[in-house]
Amino acid sequence: MAIKTIIEPFRIKAVEPIRMTTRSEREEKIRAAAYNVFLLQAEDVLIDLLTDSGTGAMSSHQWAALMRGDESYAGSPSYYRFEESVKRCFPFEHIIPTHQGRAAERILFSVTCEPGQIVPNNTHFDTTRANIEYRGAEALDLPCPESADTSERHPFKGNMDAGALEALLDREGPDKVPLVMLTITNNSGGGQPVSMENVRAVSAICRRHGVPLYIDACRFAENAYFIKLREPEYGDRSVAEIARELMSHADGCTMSAKKDGLGNIGGFLATNDGDLARQEKDLLILTEGYPTYGGLAGRDLEAIAVGLEEVVQEDYLQYRIASTDYLGRHISAEGVPIVQPPGGHAIYIDAAAFLPHVEPLAYPGIALAVELYREAGIRGVEIGSVMFGHREAESGEERPAEKELLRLAIPRRVYTQSHIDYVVEAFIEVWRRREAIRGYRIAYESPFLRHFTARFEPVEE
Ligand code: F0G
Repeated sequence: MAIKTIIEPFRIKAVEPIRMTTRSEREEKIRAAAYNVFLLQAEDVLIDLLTDSGTGAMSSHQWAALMRGDESYAGSPSYYRFEESVKRCFPFEHIIPTHQGRAAERILFSVTCEPGQIVPNNTHFDTTRANIEYRGAEALDLPCPESADTSERHPFKGNMDAGALEALLDREGPDKVPLVMLTITNNSGGGQPVSMENVRAVSAICRRHGVPLYIDACRFAENAYFIKLREPEYGDRSVAEIARELMSHADGCTMSAKKDGLGNIGGFLATNDGDLARQEKDLLILTEGYPTYGGLAGRDLEAIAVGLEEVVQEDYLQYRIASTDYLGRHISAEGVPIVQPPGGHAIYIDAAAFLPHVEPLAYPGIALAVELYREAGIRGVEIGSVMFGHREAESGEERPAEKELLRLAIPRRVYTQSHIDYVVEAFIEVWRRREAIRGYRIAYESPFLRHFTARFEPVEE
């Protein structure tokens, strides 16, 4: 009989101590941080689920590869190793390194996008949206209808609404829509995967209308693994093969190697269009660096080259998805409302359903984040009206976001099963006394990306 327990497919060579705090210390720290977990010092956090970006543990092979890093300004062998490794999963002609994903986005939209144009996506991540809006264009989300109901289980809730895209392109055409993007997995939509069938459908629509398709590929390996598990014809294919096929339906991609590159920093921009690549490299030189390092050290390129090989290994992905799923299953079994089914890199708690007595503009996601820190020193992030709400330009009136979520993002290869059990237990405690949890109001906010620096006050009874 085969053993069913899924284990961490690694052993630990170096450990990083984490420090337990008392409840009264945490009370004091969160008050001093104006109830915004971004303003906490990381040392005062026990289990940090703020993001899965750049927070992963590197393998012994990656640490060894750092030593091989060649810091030549131009033509470094580290770049060529990086390029070869990238091309194994991303068969695009031109691979342009950048210091992280948003730098690739900024360069892409600077050369492709004009004011007044529209860039559709299944759901834009906040930096993607901000980079498009900074160009004076519109960032349009076209998620599939199944994604609206957080409790509905659908295997590919990250899909784009292909019918809505077709209608948009019939109406507007390539002059108005310079490119279409697909974010895999769909981060802002709950870490849900996009099916190969949807990629094919979206790609066919784009080709028919003469509009290029770009993949926001941050979590490509997790997405490809979900395709392997959930789309019958891919069950026997390797994750790298699935990734290659997926990318073959696109014209280019942006990538944050801080996620499925298993790097602590890095990213790239890829395209098959030689003219575009030339313009992109010109901009790269202006702000990031020469095209064979793009703002990264040679050793960073080496770490990513190895990371991209490790991230498509199936024992790693099986453990990764099982660990996220375990957290989701155990808290939802106790009644905690989460976005179903669990995504690849994170669990999203429906804070509006968790705290129905807290109004959207009393920020239930913030209330829950504060409570989880108070209870157990765990840090999650609000993805709700503080992050995605907005003020009407004329009246200054605040409009809530569509969903009030708290995201618990799991860093790669960092926490063990008992850490996850601790998070489950903490959540159940907070769930039990949910009725006593109150909302917050904003005491200070900056004019854009306010969630990073906002200061809050508890709403008085
Ligand atoms: N696209 C997606 C889907 C992302 O999740 C991120 C980053 C980026 C682009 C930008 O990449 O950070 O390297 O510049 N997401 C992180 C998160 C920050 O916490 O979800 P970057």
